[in-house]
Amino acid sequence: MAEVGRERWSSRHTFIFAAIGSAIGLGNVWRFPYMSYSYGGGAFLVAWFVGLLLMGVPWLIMEFGMGRYFQKGAPGVFAGIGKKLEWIGWWPVFVAFLIVSYYCVIMAWALRYAVSSVVMAWGVGEAGASGAGDFFFKTVLQLSSGPGHLGHPVVPIVIGLAVVWIVMYIIIYKGAGRTGKIAVWTVIIPWVILVTLLIRGLTLPGAVKGLNYYLTPDWAKLKQGGVWFAALSQIAFTLSVGMAGMFAYGSFVAKKADITNNAFITSFSNCATSYFAGFAVFSIIGFIMQSLNIPIDKVSASGLGLAFVSYPVGISMIPTGAPIVGVLFFLCLFFLGIDSAFFLAHGGVIAPVYDKFGMKLKNSTLLICILGFLLGLLYTTQGGLYWLDIIDRAVSFYGLLITGAIASFVVGWVFPAKKLRDHINETSDIKLGAWFDWMLKVVVPAGALFVVAYGGFAKDLPFKYGGYPKWAAAFVWITLGVTFILSFVFQSFKTKEAKS
Ligand code: PHE
Repeated sequence: MAEVGRERWSSRHTFIFAAIGSAIGLGNVWRFPYMSYSYGGGAFLVAWFVGLLLMGVPWLIMEFGMGRYFQKGAPGVFAGIGKKLEWIGWWPVFVAFLIVSYYCVIMAWALRYAVSSVVMAWGVGEAGASGAGDFFFKTVLQLSSGPGHLGHPVVPIVIGLAVVWIVMYIIIYKGAGRTGKIAVWTVIIPWVILVTLLIRGLTLPGAVKGLNYYLTPDWAKLKQGGVWFAALSQIAFTLSVGMAGMFAYGSFVAKKADITNNAFITSFSNCATSYFAGFAVFSIIGFIMQSLNIPIDKVSASGLGLAFVSYPVGISMIPTGAPIVGVLFFLCLFFLGIDSAFFLAHGGVIAPVYDKFGMKLKNSTLLICILGFLLGLLYTTQGGLYWLDIIDRAVSFYGLLITGAIASFVVGWVFPAKKLRDHINETSDIKLGAWFDWMLKVVVPAGALFVVAYGGFAKDLPFKYGGYPKWAAAFVWITLGVTFILSFVFQSFKTKEAKS
């Protein structure tokens, strides 16, 4: 076990902040509130909380705990369980790499918008409200007609992307000692901004109308599979599990740290942030509905549409302080995203690479940052948005859940769970009982596979993903297949002991 010289968090709270920062991301703002609204408000919250306790927390404890036990990132962990199992740790590494390749592009857009907000480039008042969509698709993305038309890279986004990767390099190359200290800020800054945005949002006319949509419970929905699908998929996504990185984050933890407690703190802070962000988002949605006199289904309330179209519409209509709200909102997105991005790059990809190939941290960081930038160029092209969507489906949905199900199953049955539980209980205040073993052996894999089957295969196989041309939709499966094969290729390479 290469304990000596492994990078370490500088203190307990830096680890917690780094873990919270990796979990809190764009999804807390643009995925969670919308899911709550569409799946029965308060009723969704119940399913989500059940998912958190039964699936999310055990899954996170497993990743932290296995990382700490083996003092390695995901591939090293599974190689430690059995030589032939190393691929189970590599598959999510490729998943993480693909995610960070487009996540950084979204952050480049956020930077572009933070700058554009200063002059309210998409327009003020009614003009801005009707021009925000064109500004995003035509001016910022210069979107082409389909995934077959890549066109050229869009220069301002390429510049933004380069800035993001340079920042990423500077943050990561010194290791966990530095990332942890930075994470304290990249968590606190967006929290402060969210509070500010919420106060501004609540003081706008129509805010309460929006909040009613966010939370009004529809208990009948709890009986439908759709709610459970939404809740479990959101739990897996929001905790940043299934992306290799939490194994490495656990491996940077001192041997005596309390894993269970830290996993609870991470999960609950993340989920509290989601809940809170919902108020900030839906107060603005209510304001848009009231100002433009439109029903809620005419306001796009999730994903890219929320962040880069609806929110700018709302900003345009704000009578005082619109540019400030704009700059704050987009900086908030940037700060929300950056610690998720450096988590993916560092814990998800770079740590496994230096564990395996004995590369220096500095060199592996440089290599991955350059490769990430180069792959990111694809999404900066005029057809980039389509590719971002296709790759996102392949990795942040299928990849995450399938690799996570396999990992939990193998740790549960082969390692097995009892051994992990004993290891974790040695240093934890809260002692895990035998129930924990069954969560890993059955509940986490079953939950993840239910989501894949219900919301994935059932739709994508008969109807091809996203209505794209057949060959483009096929890239969802091609991406999964190629990353799967690559994980065996990487398993077959010889492991060199790390130098630092
Ligand atoms: N947990 C992140 C979020 O909610 C999701 C995420 C993190 C996705 C890291 C990818 C990478 O936004």
